[in-house]
Amino acid sequence: MSPDVHAFFDTATNTVSYVVRDPAGVSCAVIDSVLDFDYASGRTATKSADEIAEFITKNDLRTEWIIETHVHADHLSAAPYLQERLGGKIGIGDQITAIQDTFGKVFNEGTAFQRDGSQFDQLFQDGDSVMIGQMRVDVLHTPGHTPACLTYVIGDAAFVGDTLFMPDFGTARCDFPGGSAQDLYASIQRILALPDETRIFVGHDYKAPGREDFAWETTVGAQKAKNVHLAGNTPEGFVEMREARDATLAMPKLIVPSLQINMRAGNMPEPDDQGDVFLRVPINKL
Ligand SMILES: [Fe+2]
Repeated sequence: MSPDVHAFFDTATNTVSYVVRDPAGVSCAVIDSVLDFDYASGRTATKSADEIAEFITKNDLRTEWIIETHVHADHLSAAPYLQERLGGKIGIGDQITAIQDTFGKVFNEGTAFQRDGSQFDQLFQDGDSVMIGQMRVDVLHTPGHTPACLTYVIGDAAFVGDTLFMPDFGTARCDFPGGSAQDLYASIQRILALPDETRIFVGHDYKAPGREDFAWETTVGAQKAKNVHLAGNTPEGFVEMREARDATLAMPKLIVPSLQINMRAGNMPEPDDQGDVFLRVPINKL
């Protein structure tokens, strides 16, 4: 089974969102949508999400799922906006509770902020299967970049979020709270155990040096043969390389707003008594 996959690339955050469609019907899922956010002005916009919504509407598709591979730290999710326009259930990994616990503390959220994942319609566990029309989605828990990361395997396609990037770029960082280069290595081995011809769709692309175009689709076979962080490397060598590289990376520009919104399934914090919405900037905490 080979789902139809349509990619949407957001140049502001280098994020790839996907619409995955059952080729035998009209059912589809949206994976990792983006709500545009201009940090300087605090303004949101829906240009990226509207492109997805228009694609779905134009093709008369039925949105069954709006799913996240993880709580993103570099862009805001448009899941609630898309759900309002298109329907569908919002899902994420059940380890979201660990993320909510960690960042509930970082942002000093009060007791009104639930840490039980109840902001989402569905929490997926490793080994779960869900359907998009006639297509089965197999859920793999692939922690490392964050403790709650999932890979969705749909027929011959694997949506790996931020685990593997394109072979010439490597792998995702593991230095956010709860991240682990050892865990990422083990998770990647699970992905690479899929058949070589499995199509891999990555969550971001930053163009490797020497490459002219953005790219987001590769295969398990290509990752095994050519991934610059993995091919010819030992597990220990990978962990050492990953941790050394992570120590040089700046925080993503949108980490502060992204976490506060994405840990709420893409919803804004509750408005104040005037009806205005604010985000917090924790000082010396991230
Ligand atoms: Fe990420």
